[in-house]
Amino acid sequence: MEYSGVGIAITGCGSSAPNSTVTNDQLSQVVETSDEWIASRTGIRQRHLSDSSGTLVDLAAKAAKSAIEMAGIEPDQVDLILLATSTPDDLFGSACQVQAAIGASQAVAFDLTAACSGFVFGLVTAAQYIRTGVYRNVVLIGADVLSRWVDWNDRRTCVLFGDGAGAVVIQANERDRLLGFELRSDGTQNRCLNLAYASTAKPLLEDCEIGQGNFQPITMNGQEVYRFAVKRVPEVIEKALFRANLGVDAIDWLLLHQANQRILDSVADRLKIPSEKVISNLAKYGNTSAASIPLALDEAVREGFVKTGDTIAASGFGAGLTWGAAIFQWGR
Ligand code: UT7
Repeated sequence: MEYSGVGIAITGCGSSAPNSTVTNDQLSQVVETSDEWIASRTGIRQRHLSDSSGTLVDLAAKAAKSAIEMAGIEPDQVDLILLATSTPDDLFGSACQVQAAIGASQAVAFDLTAACSGFVFGLVTAAQYIRTGVYRNVVLIGADVLSRWVDWNDRRTCVLFGDGAGAVVIQANERDRLLGFELRSDGTQNRCLNLAYASTAKPLLEDCEIGQGNFQPITMNGQEVYRFAVKRVPEVIEKALFRANLGVDAIDWLLLHQANQRILDSVADRLKIPSEKVISNLAKYGNTSAASIPLALDEAVREGFVKTGDTIAASGFGAGLTWGAAIFQWGR
């Protein structure tokens, strides 16, 4: 426990997305939809989609490398890699392949699955390892390639999602920049949003049968997930603010999981946060699941909007159901 009692700081960020983009108009050649419907109901204009040679590991490694570079550390100084994803290249986990790809030879690496809440859950997980003095340098990546699992015949879901990755470096720091958090789960509502495994019985021996099958495309009850998000997200942000002993006025940036512009607007309205403080890039990327928060953070930092010391209220929500919020200050 050499470093016991230290705080955390987010000192670098990075992101990546597949080169290929598909506009709403192009999607209307795939399913019966229109740019007008998608843009007005969701705010999405286009999404980046991975082709068959694109891997989750490539996207994640690229984002992680940029974050490490911005933080000014070497890959072999990384102690822990957390890969928040629901779409690994390998069900055994893809974090170790990311570790190899970025040359983080000293790091332990594992996957963390909490769907669109994965980044916020990962941030809190990383903070526990640092605050307890176990690790000093953590790379947290949110990455998803949901295009692999979308039903491209289902216009209610396929227009929403895109592929991408975002990453941050979280380091031990004298001042603790994670000011408060709250994480929640509700498995009773699991059926609202699924990428579920379906099993078929296969006889193995006379008195022994096993189940084998495949994961099925994403199913979602959009209206229920919408209602859940606009109710639970403001609540969980208020709880995290309470734990940070801060009021809504202290928030410089509202950084929500990029699912739907109407959800972003409604949450901001409920919290009385002006729209200039709401970070939004879903017009360009759609919903990239675990990647959406770090991807939007990376753009906002690199474009000069988010500055050192700014207070950010980040909130993820999605399948599980899971939701959570973290209040942190950017930089050391
Ligand atoms: O990261 C996971 C989190 N997921 C979310 O946050 C998703 C939350 N939910 C939503 O964002 C919204 O519910 C959606 C964008 C998914 C749907 O918007 P909505 O305003 O709730 O639309 P709706 O499901 O009530 O559908 C309205 C109409 C329906 O037609 P009828 O029954 O009124 O004739 C749909 O069939 O729009 C139709 N529709 C479409 N039309 C054109 C549904 N999808 C499409 C489409 N293009 N892509």
